[in-house]
Amino acid sequence: MGDPMGGWSLTVALCTMVVQARGGAQRAQRRDGERERKRFSALEREKDIKRERGQWRRGKEPNGDEASNDRERMALSGVLGEEEMIKGIRRRMEIERKRDGTLAGSAGIKKENEERDLGSDVLVHVRADLFVNARSWERARVALNTAGPLKLQCRYLRVEEISVSSIRTLLDLLPRQGLQGIDVRYSSLGVAGLAELLPLLSAFPALNSLRLHYCNLDFRRDHPGQEEALRDLSQGLAQLQELRRLSLTALRLPGQLRVLLSSLPQPLEIVELPYLSLSPADLAYLSCSHHASTLQQLDLSENRLDENTLPSIRRLLSQASSSLQHLSLSGCGLNDSLMALLLPSLGGCWALKSLALALNPLSMSGLMDLVRMAAQMPSLRQLLYPNPLEDYQPGLPDRPSSAQLLDWPLDETTDINMTSSQLNRVLIDSGRTDLFLTCDLLNYDKDLVD
Ligand SMILES: *[C@@H]1O[C@H](CO)[C@@H](O)[C@H](O)[C@H]1NC(C)=O
Ligand SMILES: *[C@@H]1O[C@H](CO)[C@@H](O)[C@H](O)[C@H]1NC(C)=O
Repeated sequence: MGDPMGGWSLTVALCTMVVQARGGAQRAQRRDGERERKRFSALEREKDIKRERGQWRRGKEPNGDEASNDRERMALSGVLGEEEMIKGIRRRMEIERKRDGTLAGSAGIKKENEERDLGSDVLVHVRADLFVNARSWERARVALNTAGPLKLQCRYLRVEEISVSSIRTLLDLLPRQGLQGIDVRYSSLGVAGLAELLPLLSAFPALNSLRLHYCNLDFRRDHPGQEEALRDLSQGLAQLQELRRLSLTALRLPGQLRVLLSSLPQPLEIVELPYLSLSPADLAYLSCSHHASTLQQLDLSENRLDENTLPSIRRLLSQASSSLQHLSLSGCGLNDSLMALLLPSLGGCWALKSLALALNPLSMSGLMDLVRMAAQMPSLRQLLYPNPLEDYQPGLPDRPSSAQLLDWPLDETTDINMTSSQLNRVLIDSGRTDLFLTCDLLNYDKDLVD
């Protein structure tokens, strides 16, 4: 999963191995089958001899009632036991033929049947994180359908640019136990598509993480059926008993957060809602919700905050102050005066390990206040700070957006390192050697802290 380019090809390689292992097992089975066929003809011959003997004893043709009497006699003498064995062998050969057919054709025997028939053939359960996109989809489908010595299990499933019906097929094939998370990206689900998938997800008892990125879930009041679809969504989420992590990126669902999150049976520990156009009502709900006091990770980056929403953020931080370990408020439009209002709440988060505040329009003095506060936070190990406005080339708009802060060129003539050494001086003066300061947005990784 780490390498986004290699992810799908690793999945292809793994799935190929699962299918090949089955091929090897089949060749071995065919050799066994050959031996059984020989044994079968030997038994047939023996049966013929015995029947001839019986005829010779009675001197009659064995037909009609005679034949059934004959069978009864044979049963008494133990011959039927042999017949039944022969039937058993025939049945096994039929099953084998059917299995071969399954691999060649696309129609599969029902999965449950396969599991029952072949469950005992599994030698190794392969538990993997799978990355399924258009390139790995077919191979993953075949591998999940393959019952052989290697049984493919999935821990985290990531799907990219895959249709609702393909995701549905995939979920039908996945073993129920063991799936812990699903991550859907760049798939045009729509609200209705997601509502259709959620009941399938509730069949996975260990599922604790659901992440949706750019899944075209925009809520449009003017579209017919959207309210119902949203209700379905809420009911579907209510079925996810073990959900602890919910990530929704770049949805347009302003004002709908309550509908989505209030139905969840358990409080969430990880909430990621970047680029969500959260409304003041959404943030107010979140700060009073049953999730607030259990939050360990919160990402609200790229949601614009102002004087009206800041009280909700402050309430949220105070609720989460003893649990919150990772917080991102990058690109939230926090200027000096908003940051000054927020600092006491941030400082109260004594469990916080990482704090990301990139792409906020702070001046050098606002930034110094931030770092002085950070130096007092005992658990903090990483701070991603914004380039101060003074480090940009002239001409930056008055209230720059995060996109402008990202694209606007930094001033080459000022020593960029001066800001960094000035900030680090604060840390040295406070005796903090365990806190890492960086403005390198692209290489920042909060998970390095853990
Ligand atoms: C900070 O932003 C808020 C809202 O965006 C605005 O009202 C305030 O005047 C700004 N303060 C400064 C110092 O720019
Ligand atoms: C800035 O710092 C980096 C590493 O800390 C160093 O490689 C670079 O030469 C410095 N640049 C200037 C202009 O001092």
